[in-house]
This record gives sequence, C-alpha cells and structure tokens, in this order.
Amino acid sequence: MKHKTTEILNMLHQEHISAYMNTLSGEDQLAMVKQIENLDFSVLSAGETNEVRGKFAPLFATTLNEISNESEKFTELGVKAIKEGKVGAVLLAGGQGSRLGFDHPKGMFNIGVEHELFIFECLINNLLEVTKKAGAWVPLFIMTSVDNNKETREFFEKHNYFGYSNENVWFFVQEQLPTVDTNGKLMLSESGNILTAPNGNGGWYASMAKTGMLKVVQEAKIEWLNVFAVDNVLQRIADPCFIGAVINSGKVSGAKVVAKAAPEEKVGVLCLEEGRPSIVEYYEMTDEMLHSREADGTLSYNYGVTLNYLFRVDKLNNTLSVKLPLHRAFKKIKHMNEKGEIITPDEPNAYKFETLVLDMVKLQDDCLAYEVDRNKEFAPVKNKTGVDSVDTARELLRLNGIEL
Ligand code: UTP
Repeated sequence: MKHKTTEILNMLHQEHISAYMNTLSGEDQLAMVKQIENLDFSVLSAGETNEVRGKFAPLFATTLNEISNESEKFTELGVKAIKEGKVGAVLLAGGQGSRLGFDHPKGMFNIGVEHELFIFECLINNLLEVTKKAGAWVPLFIMTSVDNNKETREFFEKHNYFGYSNENVWFFVQEQLPTVDTNGKLMLSESGNILTAPNGNGGWYASMAKTGMLKVVQEAKIEWLNVFAVDNVLQRIADPCFIGAVINSGKVSGAKVVAKAAPEEKVGVLCLEEGRPSIVEYYEMTDEMLHSREADGTLSYNYGVTLNYLFRVDKLNNTLSVKLPLHRAFKKIKHMNEKGEIITPDEPNAYKFETLVLDMVKLQDDCLAYEVDRNKEFAPVKNKTGVDSVDTARELLRLNGIEL
C-alpha cells in the first residue's frame, strides 16, 4: 500500500512528500497513506482559471423604490412561504478568514465594544426577527470546515444558540482540497499531514448532499434555500420581502445586490452573460463597462453582489452533477516545513483552490437582482482595518441603532 502511495506521489512530482512519509513511524505513515488515498489531487494540474467569458450585458435590479412600493405584498408572500416551511437558510461559515487574522471561526469574533456581541449572534438576532414575525422557525444549516467545526458547534452550544431553536439547526462539514506552495508543491500541516484547505463556498450544496443534509431538506419539503456569508453583520437572513419578491417574479433564483459606491468599486457585479445571469468581477470589466451609464444616469453595471442568494431547491438538484470551475487564491497559510518547524507567514505564501457560489448563479435560468440599502444591510468584516473591516462594520452597526 505504501509502495503504491509513493508511486502516486512521484508521478505527481511530489517526491518530497514520499521522502517525508518514509521518516514517519508505522501508525503515522498509515494515516498519511489513508489521507492521500482520499484526496483529490486534480488541483495540482489546475493553473490560474483562465475562463473564457461570453458576451456581457447589464442586468437591471428591482430597485429600492420599486421594492418599497410593493413591500407589503412581497412580505406577505415571503412570510407565507416561511410559515409553510418552504424556506431554509444556509450559513457559509467554513472559510478561513485569513484576512481578518482571527485564530477562531470568524463568527466567534466579538464585534462589540462595551459588551460582547459576536458575529454569529448578530446573524441569529436578525434571523430571530424574521422567525418572530412569521411565527415559525427557519431551518438553519451551518456549513463549517474540518478545522472549525468542533469550535463552532461548541460555541453555539455554550451560548444556547443565541436564543435560536437548536432543533432547527444542522451543522455540516465541507470538503477539503490540497494547497500548494508557489512551486506547485504539496505542503505539510501543523500535525504532519498533507496540508489542505476548505474547498471554497461553491461546494456548499454538494457538501449538503454528501453529508445527508438534503434528506432533511427533502423530508421537510423545503423549496427555497437562502445562502449567505458569515461575515456580513447586517445580513438579513430569510428576509420575507426578498423571498416574496423572488417568488412573485417567477424566477428561479435571487441575489441581494447593492448599488456601487463608485464605478471603480472592487465588487463583483450581477449581469447577464450570453443571456444568463452571471457575475463579472471588477478586474474583468473593461473601462467602457465600468463607466457606461443608462439614460437616467445610473451605471449600466451597477449592482454589486453581497453573497446573499435565494435558490430554488429543485433547480439546485439539477446542477449537482456539474463540476464548478476551480479558482486559485493566494493566501497566508500556516504550515510545517520539512524541518518540523511551524511557519506562520506574514505574507501570502500558498495557493488554495476554491469553487465559488457565484459560479452557481450562472447555472440558473434567471436571477432576480434585488437591491438593498448598503447602509442597512451590507457590513462585511473582511479585514482588521480599512475597507470592509471591523471598524467600518462597527460604524454601520451603530448607524443601525445596534449598541456595541
Ligand atoms: P471569503 O471569500 O471572504 O473567504 O468567504 P474567507 O476564507 O472567509 O476569508 P479570507 O479570504 O481568507 O480572508 C466568503 C464567505 O464564504 C465562506 C466564508 O466563511 C464566508 O462566509 N466560505 C469561504 C466557506 O464557507 N468556505 C470556504 O471554503 C470559503
């Protein structure tokens, strides 16, 4: 068995790992052999995604004004769907949060100042507003990673699910992919295994399938899943008005979007690509696209995505067999060098491979772009300071009357 593993590694030009494996004692060696047998090494041949993009066109949003004119009707529709148990929520909390540099799951970060207010707590507080209004719990699926699953679950337990019903919460663990250094070589983890990282937020539905969560979805007859990021502390989850607007539109998906603050703002923009919903990254836009305006003066490519989507479950099922593209991200990743020393880099040092939710949008026949007020619903905590940071999120929380 060991011999076969060595051959695989050598074939993949990873002789340094075979050499390391040979230094291990029987049990540790066996553990590594097992790990290698179960890892997907296709990433080793994945270079930079050089996706050929199709023809882009603007996708206009249902604007704040339009929504406000019909908010009663939309909200009623959404509340009805929640009451009937048709809506579930999926919290994406498997990320490594390397930019924030917090050594625990990001949701455990205390955004409070005078008193404790954890990111997870902010999200649950917002969800509780909805469940109170609807008089029904929204099944909540929390995606974690191998590294943060235990800590996340214990944190929820310790805090009594922040007042949520624990019977309506499910945790599931996403899959991992190997990471490589700048020379394309596999790396070692702190515990001496092959270093892996969570496979990106695009893997959530496939991971729900693998971990048995889709059985829960099926049995509960959930028809819509609202998937959202952990790090937006103003995130409105299972927002009845949003759900109602998507149902009313007859579309199979929806995305909460915000009007760009400036043409050059670094956000992915919801648009059409070859007539299908898609997201164009800011660096993929030509100058013409960045500055093009409609007759009323608004930017043609105006609506940035906030990682809050509503998908129809039957349509998601149709996409389960589709392999999403792998994106390479250059990150700071703690690892062990061949001398057995733990290295905590100050600068990005390794590539991890991720599939992205935004590539799932492309698989949908259509998508309702639903505008939200960024000051009320968009406060991402990505960095320690500066743009999208703890500081900016605190400011926005205060602006919304939340005591810190
Ligand atoms: P980000 O793209 O900001 O990644 O995640 P990150 O890993 O949290 O942070 P950085 O880039 O290392 O600083 C956006 C959302 O997707 C989730 C995150 O938890 C966050 O809610 N995510 C990301 C996953 O659930 N799994 C992943 O593999 C990656």
